[in-house]
Amino acid sequence: MSSAKQKIAVVVLISGSGSNLQAIIDATQRGDLDIEIKAVISNRPDAQGLQRAAKAGIPIETLDHKTFASRAEFDHALQQRIDRYQPELLVLAGFMRILTTEFVRHYQGRLLNIHPSLLPKYPGLNTHQRAIETQDSEHGASVHFVTEELDGGPVIIQGRVAIHAGDTPTQLAKRVLHTEHHIYPQAIQWFSQGRLQLADNRVLFDQKPRHQPFVFKANDKAQLEKEE
Ligand code: GAR
Repeated sequence: MSSAKQKIAVVVLISGSGSNLQAIIDATQRGDLDIEIKAVISNRPDAQGLQRAAKAGIPIETLDHKTFASRAEFDHALQQRIDRYQPELLVLAGFMRILTTEFVRHYQGRLLNIHPSLLPKYPGLNTHQRAIETQDSEHGASVHFVTEELDGGPVIIQGRVAIHAGDTPTQLAKRVLHTEHHIYPQAIQWFSQGRLQLADNRVLFDQKPRHQPFVFKANDKAQLEKEE
């Protein structure tokens, strides 16, 4: 009998470098993720992530937001492009656009984002600098379901890193990005296995409400498995 697992259809949206996309592609190629990336779509024609996708043989598309008169028109066109691939999951991987309510509602429960802070701390931009200026001892990244509140949806998993004395935002960003590359594939795998759901603005894991996000500390996979 074939042991091939059912793979869920995924579309990934990017705007830039695409290092999270690369981590997802790598995990898929290793056989750690039961997904098929049907397409990668960028709102920026020069996004480096498009080349990463093309190299992996994934269909790429560009939809330049600057060619649309309004946010609503862009999001509507984007939705049409995405839905041609009939994704069961839509992954925002460094997609630097605020989304309309209509768009978010359309994908509710199957829309994930990664944000470079320990949400609910520091929604929005310049998160690394803000964490340093606040003299936090810890920083990190969060994978969350997207809801209508910007960077406000329930958090599934966080990667935590220590802030060292004298850290610059660039140094800190690098360490945070490293942790992002662990937590995003993990959350996507849970979703693909049917273990994650969004219900009443909460995360359900194996049908049970999660009161706290899972925590991943760099180089500490055992921690994650223990918490699971
Ligand atoms: C990542 O740090 C991601 O958390 C952040 O953009 C970067 C994309 O990097 N996303 C946001 O700030 C969304 N609000 P990548 O293109 O190399 O994956």
